[in-house]
Amino acid sequence: TTLTLIGAPTDVGASVLGASMGPDALRIAGIARAMQARGFDVRDQGNLAGPGNPQAEPASGFRHLAEVAAWNRAVYEATHAALQAGQLPLLMGGDHCLAIGSISAVAQHCRARGRRLKVLWFDAHADANTPESSPSGNLHGMPVACLLGHGPAQLTRLAGPEAPPALQSGQITLIGVRSVDATEKRFVNEHGIEVYDMRTIDELGMRAVMQAALADVDQDTHLHVSFDMDCLDPSVAPGVGTGVRGGPTYRETQLCMEMLADCGALGSADLVELNPALDVRNQTAELAVDLLESLFGKSTLMRPQ
Ligand code: ARG
Ligand code: MN
Ligand code: MN
Ligand code: MN
Repeated sequence: TTLTLIGAPTDVGASVLGASMGPDALRIAGIARAMQARGFDVRDQGNLAGPGNPQAEPASGFRHLAEVAAWNRAVYEATHAALQAGQLPLLMGGDHCLAIGSISAVAQHCRARGRRLKVLWFDAHADANTPESSPSGNLHGMPVACLLGHGPAQLTRLAGPEAPPALQSGQITLIGVRSVDATEKRFVNEHGIEVYDMRTIDELGMRAVMQAALADVDQDTHLHVSFDMDCLDPSVAPGVGTGVRGGPTYRETQLCMEMLADCGALGSADLVELNPALDVRNQTAELAVDLLESLFGKSTLMRPQ
């Protein structure tokens, strides 16, 4: 399989600057070599082009809507082209608003082929604000709502003016959540979105949580993993813009990745919110590459390959 690395160097969806350097930090941490070692034919297609960060104030509920839309159109096109060519796209963000583009493309691809799509969203946050509810106007806090059809048309209709929402609420599961705005809580509950928050992970353990999250995933499902680096505890992943204490440990997260690899359904992924400006000697980028190796099937000698 060809694994296509798509760099989207922007932080237009966030308040904290620096996620724009994520793609190069991942390259420096050896992402291409690590993926080659997993047996992929790796194609790093370089960085997409897009507008700079105007660092403007929110306008009618959003910060940088035009810029976020432009970046997401570019991500949509690149992701869709990779999927059409039979490749496995790996988006290197960039902030999490970019998952609107990648997942809209995956959804369109699956829709055209009658394939079932399931998204696992690893995050400290629910990212389920709407423009009406967002406390910040930052679009990286809104992708889950946009993908379910709640948001501006520039972001909810990337697949075309007539396109349905990218996802139905039963197609997305949130894992690792521990910082949720009151308005997001209402959105998540009203839509019946499946959430494994930190309390659930504490009570059941990561293994049971992942078994439940993957229960409806079979070989015919296209599994998309959208991984926000702030899902991890900030003590192991300091290079993020909106860290929240009390996240999964290194070991728990490795187990997640290994169980995802075992399910054999992974078809595309996002690695987002890596912020090298806040990192310590690139350790969070190295951690990301380490986790991606497990996601793509690296295992110890103790188990058959
Ligand atoms: N809920 C907050 C907001 O809407 C924080 C969102 C953080 N999102 C992220 N992708 N890191 O602004
Ligand atoms: Mn996020
Ligand atoms: Mn987050
Ligand atoms: Mn709805």
